[in-house]
Amino acid sequence: MIDGKKVLLSGMQSTGIITLGNYLGALKNWVDLNDDEGIECFYAVMDLHSITVRQNPAELRKNGRTLYALYMAAGLDPVKNCLFFQSHVPAHPQLAWILNCFTYMGEMNRMTQFKDKAAKHADNVNTGLFTYPVLMAADILLYQADMVPVGKDQLQHLEITRDIANRFNGIYGDVFTIPEAYMGKSGAKIMSLQDPSKKMSKSDENPNGSILLLDDKDTIMRKFKKAVTDSDGLIAYNDDKPGIKNLIDIYCAVTGKTVDGAVKEFDGMGYGKLKEAVGEAVADELAPVQAKFNELINDKAYVDGIMKENAAKASYYANKTLRKVMKKVGFIELPR
Ligand code: TYM
Repeated sequence: MIDGKKVLLSGMQSTGIITLGNYLGALKNWVDLNDDEGIECFYAVMDLHSITVRQNPAELRKNGRTLYALYMAAGLDPVKNCLFFQSHVPAHPQLAWILNCFTYMGEMNRMTQFKDKAAKHADNVNTGLFTYPVLMAADILLYQADMVPVGKDQLQHLEITRDIANRFNGIYGDVFTIPEAYMGKSGAKIMSLQDPSKKMSKSDENPNGSILLLDDKDTIMRKFKKAVTDSDGLIAYNDDKPGIKNLIDIYCAVTGKTVDGAVKEFDGMGYGKLKEAVGEAVADELAPVQAKFNELINDKAYVDGIMKENAAKASYYANKTLRKVMKKVGFIELPR
């Protein structure tokens, strides 16, 4: 709790331009909470997590700034929310080290994201990739977060965060708040447009599989036109039709319409019409975000000011928890 408010923390990796999946599964839901006076929200650009896969330094810097500006462009108010870079708050890796000593190899071995990424980057299976969920646990526990809004793919990491926190609390008393996952109304799992059995991802080798947040309207329409569907030509929402289901999910997440409503709306129409309507809805949704982004990305002084203020605010709360943890574990406080 901060000033009687519940605490919420979330974030995204800055490994590239975020996708429509990141937007609908996470960012859009965060923006919906902007005006909730009962919640204190922290959103980080998770740049420390990003280097678990090799990054070009200039690109990492650019992607970090882009993501930070996109948070604001999508509607996160930097006064109401604390928007910061993970690497600006050294308490994150400090707590992660301590929590590493309370996490078992077997637990990390079970993580499906580790298995997937290790297979994808077989030439660079580094220990950072292995202990990635411990750093994520530190991100969450440092702010004593009650709620963590994430897409479905991150639920396993949240579960391990709870296990680590419970284990630590079991030894040292009530140090950490046990966080709960928070799922938005829709969009929890947006699939690739080229292979609807896989989640939409920045790292998809096929660029037509993902809509990127800065794609222009022509690109968006072209990618939807190429979306993989099936051959029976019938618009229905079920697991036997994953391509159509995904298009309807996207349409509903963007427009706020219900699945039943959408299915009725497209009843009897061909797939071409559906793809066009979804493309239009997505382009309309992203146009104002992109316009605001273009303003912000050119206003370095303004963004830098926000970045500094917010890093100080995040550090204040993070250090409070870190000091408590260090004391509990038995480290000596530096005399004042
Ligand atoms: P990341 O950067 O992969 O994704 C950011 C958020 O987007 C969601 N997401 C999706 N939602 C729906 N459909 C999709 N296709 C899709 N792809 C991604 C993710 O669930 C996530 O909510 N480990 C995290 C970043 C992180 C974090 C944290 C999150 C680091 N520390 C602390 C919450 C709390 C990650 O890699 O997310």
